[in-house]
Amino acid sequence: MTELASRGDSRSQRPSNEAFREFISSGWDETVPDAERREAADYTPARRDALVRRLPGARLVLSAGVLKVRSNDTDYPFRPDSAFAYYTGLGTDEEPDSVLVIEPSAEDPATAEARYFFRPRAGFDSSEFYADSRYGEMWVGRRPTLTEASQRLGIEVRHIDELRDHLAKDVGAQLSLTVMPGVDAGVEAMVSEIRSQNGLPGGDEAAAESAALKEAASEQRLVKDEYEIGQMRAAVDATLRGFEDVIRHLPEVVGHPRGERVIEGVFAATARADGNGVGYDTIAAAGDHACTLHWTRNDGSVRSDELVLIDAGVEIDSLYTADVTRTLPVSGRFSPVQRKVYDAVLEAADAAFAVARPGLRFRELHAAAMEVLARTLEEWGLLPGTAAESLSPEGQWHRRWMPHGTSHHLGLDVHDCAQARREMYLDAELVPGMVFTIEPGLYFKQNDLLVPGELRGIGVRIEDDVLVTADGVENLSAAAPRRADDVERWIAGLTQ
Ligand code: GLY
Ligand code: MN
Ligand code: MN
Repeated sequence: MTELASRGDSRSQRPSNEAFREFISSGWDETVPDAERREAADYTPARRDALVRRLPGARLVLSAGVLKVRSNDTDYPFRPDSAFAYYTGLGTDEEPDSVLVIEPSAEDPATAEARYFFRPRAGFDSSEFYADSRYGEMWVGRRPTLTEASQRLGIEVRHIDELRDHLAKDVGAQLSLTVMPGVDAGVEAMVSEIRSQNGLPGGDEAAAESAALKEAASEQRLVKDEYEIGQMRAAVDATLRGFEDVIRHLPEVVGHPRGERVIEGVFAATARADGNGVGYDTIAAAGDHACTLHWTRNDGSVRSDELVLIDAGVEIDSLYTADVTRTLPVSGRFSPVQRKVYDAVLEAADAAFAVARPGLRFRELHAAAMEVLARTLEEWGLLPGTAAESLSPEGQWHRRWMPHGTSHHLGLDVHDCAQARREMYLDAELVPGMVFTIEPGLYFKQNDLLVPGELRGIGVRIEDDVLVTADGVENLSAAAPRRADDVERWIAGLTQ
């Protein structure tokens, strides 16, 4: 034992005598109730079949990920990798260090066989349950048995100690072994060792196989199945409850020197109570802070004559997240200039809504919104040329005040499907089942000398989450008012 480790032990006063070990290991009810099959288990087989059809001839290794140290002996809350969640149906904080293995079935290579490897709950005859503060159930709660996990997921489940033998079995000329990169370095090292022992190439060729797995797992999620659409609705509903809670607390927000943090905290309370947490760090940005696109420091005050931009999403237990922004007049009423900016952004959003339907190319959503903003900025005399010139590739002046994209896919990740190829993302046509944001904005920074003083310090974004339907889109977040008058009525209804 190193000197440092023994110094760590100097905090422990746990008895270690044999009589104590026997005493703490006895007298526990060991009945294990039947576990309930997850709803997602009806959808994961088709997802895995599609994956093996796209990447034939390979055993595919998807890790959940590992606990990450926050500081000293405390870890960050565990959140499994999104691809792992997608193909297992697991969510919340399940199960660090576990691994899903997918491969073509021996009988029919167009269908998948899946095995889940994890560290099941230790028996009461082991000291783990009371002595292991990272995994033991007296410390972190009950973990499933192999049988329970199998009942929940509907697939074969094995102990993690059997992983290496399974990964190595039959690997070679007829069957490759491909690991999801960047999730669990230990599993990646194991795969690379097994590949080299079985004559499979390492280096760039192995990396290319891994990249293809990552790309496939990203592109497959571009079109959501029915279960996912239900989860997205639930995530958006929880998010809108969070927004309403924030509005109810606006008087307290204004009275606090760090009102932005009060907003962050109120939203987090809903996210934690109704879901797994926030899907990304909440942006609570009053006044000029709204012009910082990802303002998550949230340490400012919120004045009643300002707008406050709130960009927040609840990630529910299945790990699907919403991503909604509303920009609210803190007093409950927009000033004329605040309303002018707000209405311009709303018009840009409405223009994207108006063209969104199956067959439209994804990048055209942005183009529709930019046409409105370029025209508006020309009318306001802010462009050094015409709107048409600004919209040309050589111009783009309007982007000074709207530097981000108008839309991104949404799902298990807030920026979902990010490894998809351009032709599958920006250049792809919309198809029913896609879920993405429409989120134009205008941001006039306090120190922007190219805009009139009255505009400085005003930032507005309006962000909705939409589902492509057979003939258009459904605004999943429509229950949160968008029009300026409706926003004012919304605030009045919740604060009076
Ligand atoms: N919340 C980050 C985004 O809107 O993309
Ligand atoms: Mn977004
Ligand atoms: Mn957002």
